Amino acid sequence: MTAPSIQCAVLGLGRLGFYHAKNLLTEVSGAAIVQVIDPLPGRAKDVAQAFGVPGYSDDVLDAFANPAVDAVVIVTPTRTHAEMIKLAASYGKDVFVEKPLTLQLDESIEVVKAVQEAGIICQVGFMRRFDPAYADAKRRIAAGEIGKPLYYKGFTRDAGAPPPEFIKDSGGLFVDCSIHDYDIARYLIGAEITAISGHGQVLKYPFMEAYDDVDQALSYFEFDNGAAGDAEASRNSPYGYDIRAEIIGSEGSLFIGELRNKSLTILNATGSSYEIIPDFQTRFHDAYCLELQHFIDCVRSRNTPIVTAEDATTNLKVALAATESMKNGKKVVLQPQASL
Ligand SMILES: NC(=O)c1ccc[n+]([C@@H]2O[C@H](COP(=O)([O-])OP(=O)(O)OC[C@H]3O[C@@H](n4cnc5c(N)ncnc54)[C@H](O)[C@@H]3O)[C@@H](O)[C@H]2O)c1
Repeated sequence: MTAPSIQCAVLGLGRLGFYHAKNLLTEVSGAAIVQVIDPLPGRAKDVAQAFGVPGYSDDVLDAFANPAVDAVVIVTPTRTHAEMIKLAASYGKDVFVEKPLTLQLDESIEVVKAVQEAGIICQVGFMRRFDPAYADAKRRIAAGEIGKPLYYKGFTRDAGAPPPEFIKDSGGLFVDCSIHDYDIARYLIGAEITAISGHGQVLKYPFMEAYDDVDQALSYFEFDNGAAGDAEASRNSPYGYDIRAEIIGSEGSLFIGELRNKSLTILNATGSSYEIIPDFQTRFHDAYCLELQHFIDCVRSRNTPIVTAEDATTNLKVALAATESMKNGKKVVLQPQASL
């Protein structure tokens, strides 16, 4: 007999929430959506009708109070995540939540405690861990194919700046973008970041100065196993969405990711060209589907997800330290993980 589907509610139906809802319905096995929620007038009803979802509401409380809901997928603005996870914990609902978990470290620690005390599953949307290339890199490092991993080098380049309404609540470039590099670097190197220095400037989008943010940044970090790394983050790559990484090991290196969208090169009288990956949904489609599948599988098996609220808290701590370092011009030494 097949096990019943995990009944989900999707909270927040914007850019990513709509996409997650679609993936949950079409690409993930063992999941159903019973309710979609968004406060924008008409949004939840429209999405429910488009996807054939039986329930919709403009109030998140409806999902938490709904006994038919096993798990919530939180894709609302970052400032709302922590309260929603604590509510989910109080109602015993499992949680998939987008990154970053929150913008405040104390709040993130409170969320970790609430999740632990309630015994719910909480997976955070650091999807690079599920991308086939990064996941293969993890397996090959574990198999010793490049010897001891010594250095992580990451690029996170966005094709352009998001609008001011997003930037004002994003937490800044390190918290919004480099946080993905900190997470995957910790995962691939298999160690914790103990010190970081951050640097950044506004090179292209002067409106960012009003939000104390930058459009180009670099962080350099040291790990507790002696490895090191750096991560560049940028809003300035009009050619496309450019996410790559290199792991340098004692016996070899791994290059992860590429610019090319399809395996097609066009050659004509003006030269040769190829299409570059345009956006995050194109680059990470498999990863976004696989992370949701992993979440559903963990809800069913009660196994701990491979990326947790504790990881999200550590990643936030690193990103906030990079931001602090950029502002005061000094390297920040991080307290050991045990203090979480
Ligand atoms: N993993 C990734 O690569 C990635 C990529 C993009 C965005 N994100 C994260 O996803 C989250 C959402 O980002 P987005 O770009 O989809 O934002 P968005 O602004 O496009 O959508 C947010 C939606 O949430 C709704 N909303 C606002 N308050 C709500 C509430 N209290 N209850 C329910 N719905 C509410 C809004 O009406 C909107 O439809 C953010 O935390 C962002 O950092 C992650």
